[in-house]
Amino acid sequence: MSPDAPLAVGRAPGKIILVGEHAVVYGHPALAAAVGLYTTVTLRRRPGATDLERSAFTDERLLRALHTVLPSEGFGVDIESELPAGRGMGSSASIAVALVRAAAAAAGERLGRRALFERSLDVERIFHGEPSGVDNAVVLRGGLVHYRKGPPLEVSSQPVSQPLPVVILDSGRAGNTADMVARVRVARSSLDATLERIGALVERARALLGDRPALGRLFDENHALLCQLGVSTPALDSLCAMARRNGALGAKLSGAGGGGVVLALVETASRPGLLAAAQRAGVRAFSADLPALSATQEAP
Ligand code: PMV
Repeated sequence: MSPDAPLAVGRAPGKIILVGEHAVVYGHPALAAAVGLYTTVTLRRRPGATDLERSAFTDERLLRALHTVLPSEGFGVDIESELPAGRGMGSSASIAVALVRAAAAAAGERLGRRALFERSLDVERIFHGEPSGVDNAVVLRGGLVHYRKGPPLEVSSQPVSQPLPVVILDSGRAGNTADMVARVRVARSSLDATLERIGALVERARALLGDRPALGRLFDENHALLCQLGVSTPALDSLCAMARRNGALGAKLSGAGGGGVVLALVETASRPGLLAAAQRAGVRAFSADLPALSATQEAP
């Protein structure tokens, strides 16, 4: 084998949370879908310390992540990703799962889903402190996932008869998940009722997957509750308003907030109008049909 030949490759998609972020940290359920933008981790043999050779992301925590799952010597790591960093689209969970898959393949290990989940969560903790695990669960399983961290942990695939057409609007600013989760935690005692209402929305959303107008209104309700938690920003609020003005059935921030993206539920016919409005406003937008096999970047 030439020294440059890949020894192992691991791949994982990104994700988007439909309903339930933040509340999921406190044991409430969440509904999230895989998005077909991928991270690929390639491992090669190399002399000396295990190190990053090429990376789509510059983040000092990446080196610690590598050393959590790989031997300290002998591996060169290449990380490619189609996902934007820090936007609530699961870039860190996607790196974690792709890395764990590549490391297991290099070691000749066949890991079950639960072992992959636990190991990838060890990596995710380096980025986010105490994550609920929803990102890793959906990135690993793919499709649309109903998640509750437990104990006991509950992860199940949520059937959906028709894919959900969405547009994802990028605020252009990274949010810091650990900071936003800490901010909610500090105010927790006054936010319990709001967190509970978000959890209840998740159960309602499951029953409304075939009723897009009602699901759109539920997205709006979820966004209002996230505003009450204090995790939205004027930029996210105005992206939601832009989406609704341009035909979206409903829109909400997705992920931890403080930056990141807005998820807008659309009718297929109204999608071009919203994408054109995003382009005019200089907003990067992705369109997808959730749970997505592919998410295409449409603008600008
Ligand atoms: O990584 P993000 O920005 O998608 O946030 C994950 C969702 C939170 O509920 C805010 C945190 C968590 O650990 O579940």
